[in-house]
Amino acid sequence: MSKITIAIDGFSSTGKSTIAKQLAKTLAYSYVDSGAMYRAVTLYAMNHNYISESEFKPELLINDLDKINLKFIFNSSVGYGEIYLNDVNVEHEIRTLAVSKLVSKVAEISEVRKKLVEQQQLMGKNKGVIMDGRDIGTVVFPNAELKLFMNASAEKRAIRRYNELTKRGDKVSFDEILKNVEYRDHIDSTREDSPLVKAEDAIEIDNSNLGLEEQFYKIHQMVQEKLTSL
Ligand code: DC
Repeated sequence: MSKITIAIDGFSSTGKSTIAKQLAKTLAYSYVDSGAMYRAVTLYAMNHNYISESEFKPELLINDLDKINLKFIFNSSVGYGEIYLNDVNVEHEIRTLAVSKLVSKVAEISEVRKKLVEQQQLMGKNKGVIMDGRDIGTVVFPNAELKLFMNASAEKRAIRRYNELTKRGDKVSFDEILKNVEYRDHIDSTREDSPLVKAEDAIEIDNSNLGLEEQFYKIHQMVQEKLTSL
């Protein structure tokens, strides 16, 4: 059976990655978390003191772009590829609130986007890939056979994020998380380069009141329909 490209875009913490990972496993496709790449570049900038909450020196980060090597290595115990920044596994470190607070600033930089989009297109060149992010259906794979756009209320998304972070032991407050979700929504959807917008041919799914199983069933059916129509 021929393979397709599946693009999943949407606001932060809409459960894109959970659905994408589950789909990838079921279809034996590869999963790419494009947000992890923007987070890893942000971590690099933080580690080099190029960015903090009070200042950002984008030109220093742009100068260093050739020194930033990103790759995903499949970890069979979790069932997906984990991200490595210059050969160090940073899968856990990139999920902190400190990175979430700064990543939208880094994702605004066109030079960063250009580099990451090229790598993402390369990873998807043989199809059989599910990629989630903000500009996958609009910029990275405008010809993807199936495009989904996920949404949910900011409160629901903040609750999910809060539960995720506290479960792994991070000390965060709900208000802080909600503010970060709203702040990122604003920057991600108003930036000049590749803002978060629903592609015209994307199917919108609001999962504020949709369980995971129900959602997966619905999306899996869409994939099957697409595959049989080819
Ligand atoms: O999906 P995430 O929340 O881990 O993404 C982190 C940030 O990276 C998000 O706030 C915006 C940015 N991003 C982007 O600009 N383009 C993508 N394709 C993926 C993420």
